[in-house]
Amino acid sequence: MSNKPRIVVIGSSNTDMIIRVPRSVGSGETLMGTGFTIVQGGKGANQAVASARAGGDVVFISCVGDDLFGRNTVDALRNEAIDTSLVKVVKEVPTGVAMIQIDEKGENSICVAPGANNCLYSEDILSAENAIGEADVLLIQLEIPVKTVETAIILAKKHKTQVILNPAPVNPFHASQLPAGILSNADIITPNLNEAEWLTDTDPSVSDYSELLVRLRKSATGIIVMTLGGNGSACLNQKKITHFPAVPVRVTDTTAAGDTFNGYLAVALAKGYRLDKAITLAVKAASLSVTKLGAQSSIPYAEEVDLSPLKSGKHLVKAI
Ligand code: RIB
Repeated sequence: MSNKPRIVVIGSSNTDMIIRVPRSVGSGETLMGTGFTIVQGGKGANQAVASARAGGDVVFISCVGDDLFGRNTVDALRNEAIDTSLVKVVKEVPTGVAMIQIDEKGENSICVAPGANNCLYSEDILSAENAIGEADVLLIQLEIPVKTVETAIILAKKHKTQVILNPAPVNPFHASQLPAGILSNADIITPNLNEAEWLTDTDPSVSDYSELLVRLRKSATGIIVMTLGGNGSACLNQKKITHFPAVPVRVTDTTAAGDTFNGYLAVALAKGYRLDKAITLAVKAASLSVTKLGAQSSIPYAEEVDLSPLKSGKHLVKAI
């Protein structure tokens, strides 16, 4: 058995179809783009790849269709030395796809057809109990059925496996309809600003991350680590809010920056890093990812992420 930290990632697999556009296309409009690329994506698969490149021993639990995209997905994951033995293949539904527009500022607009991702059920999770029980960290998102997510989190808690929930993307239903066991059982949740607004039913005009963190505390009992795009990250732990600034970079494409952050955070914590050091490392990895186009194509390897100035620029924002 390897002595690398053991990470189980549960989540979606998509094939991303990317077009670069001058701006997001409007309703009823045909807009000419400047390029087309197909890359491997999906929040779950991206986080599995980020965990592997960060130095984790990764088991990925997902569902793909019995089609070319599904086979390409599994091949790409195996090339990262990720254990895909728990990736389910279904005949009747296609592999998930995402249509992604990247504008001139590197910001994305994403539309997902989940396909086979919606066929990952609680029974698939229950049959993976050994892997979840042996893991140091379970990393999971909301791009699969929420009942499946709840089953996984409760199973991980039973085995004292640390749970990181990336509550992404914002789901079409009201956050109060999320199964009760999800937020209350996660050890760490990692929303971005949009997701924090959704989870707290907050108007987007309240852009103060400190206020969102305090509101999130009502439903999430664990540590809250919010990703802030070009502003880095902010963490509410016990009664302290700490800000971790991003590394200034030239932005090409922000897709999968959050996924990179989560994979690196999971591995750093599983290695026993202190929380502030783990967040600093995750911010650095995410900052690097936005310099390249695409999802898995942009995730850095551990040796590319400069570990030296880990004293970093973290700031205590306030005690609450
Ligand atoms: O987080 C980025 C990912 O979101 C993309 O790879 C796309 O597939 C969607 O799942």
